[in-house]
Amino acid sequence: MRHFLSLRDYTKNEILKLIDMAVSIKKEPRKLLLDKKLAMIFEKSSTRTRMAFELAISELGGKALFLSSNDLQLNRGEPVKDTARVIGSMVDFVMLRVNKHETLLEFAKYSKTPVINALSDLYHPTQVLGDLLTIKEYNKQGKIAFVGDSNNMCNSWLIAASILGFELSIAIPKGYNINNEILSFALKEAEKSGAKIEISNDKFKAISNKDVIITDTWVSMGEEDKKEQKIKDFSGFIIDKEAMSYANKNAIFMHCLPAYRGFEVSEDVFEEHSEVVFTEATNRLYVVKALLCFLSDVEC
Ligand code: CP
Ligand code: NVA
Repeated sequence: MRHFLSLRDYTKNEILKLIDMAVSIKKEPRKLLLDKKLAMIFEKSSTRTRMAFELAISELGGKALFLSSNDLQLNRGEPVKDTARVIGSMVDFVMLRVNKHETLLEFAKYSKTPVINALSDLYHPTQVLGDLLTIKEYNKQGKIAFVGDSNNMCNSWLIAASILGFELSIAIPKGYNINNEILSFALKEAEKSGAKIEISNDKFKAISNKDVIITDTWVSMGEEDKKEQKIKDFSGFIIDKEAMSYANKNAIFMHCLPAYRGFEVSEDVFEEHSEVVFTEATNRLYVVKALLCFLSDVEC
């Protein structure tokens, strides 16, 4: 049995297979997981991820159970390992959106069924799967810039690029260093795959000669108390027309959403690239379908 906690547990071939499966299921929807049940545990808000998972399992012929962590006994102190043993014994998959990645690791250790990371502080792997499908659909190569915070989206891109052998240039403000363990894993993978990973504090350098420009909110869920400080620290890291002018001709802009105009992206850049951004959001549905099939050993 496989879990899906981070792309680092998957090979290049497996990631590419997941994307191919998503292409196929997007073309031809099929009820491949009749009567399978998915539990969805959310410790944080969600629009896209909840919709993608709930619709994915229902369009595949199964059923979703939405479980807000506020309503579970988890919120009253029931241990994660007990919750995992109960929920994992009643459904075919469990997806969790958690504050701390350790919660996922603990849950996965005790769950009898596959556990899927629907966002943690460290990774957001289903988002990057959706992004990879979108990049493929727009015929872009792996020359990518990520400008923004050094947390879940940045880490997931670092892992994906290093396994897939992409060129990834990350620009983050001073003082927002990437998690050491994740960085050293990525650099080791990059040696094997031939990926070119560059990290700096210079957004223009990162964006230069890239085909795909990615950013994320400066203030992630749960960081609301740091908002003022982060806005100060990230000033200058906006993706605006000037920043995009450093990218390759016909470069695309991507954002996992929700987007905060005037902070990480300007209104004009966002609207100019909105077709890509909303394709990226919709593609979450197809990669989640592919993932649920993959974890069930069902070809699609
Ligand atoms: N991008 C993303 O995960 O969106 P939600 O937070 O709305 O699920
Ligand atoms: N970094 C953001 C991603 C939202 C999809 C957050 O964690 O809130």
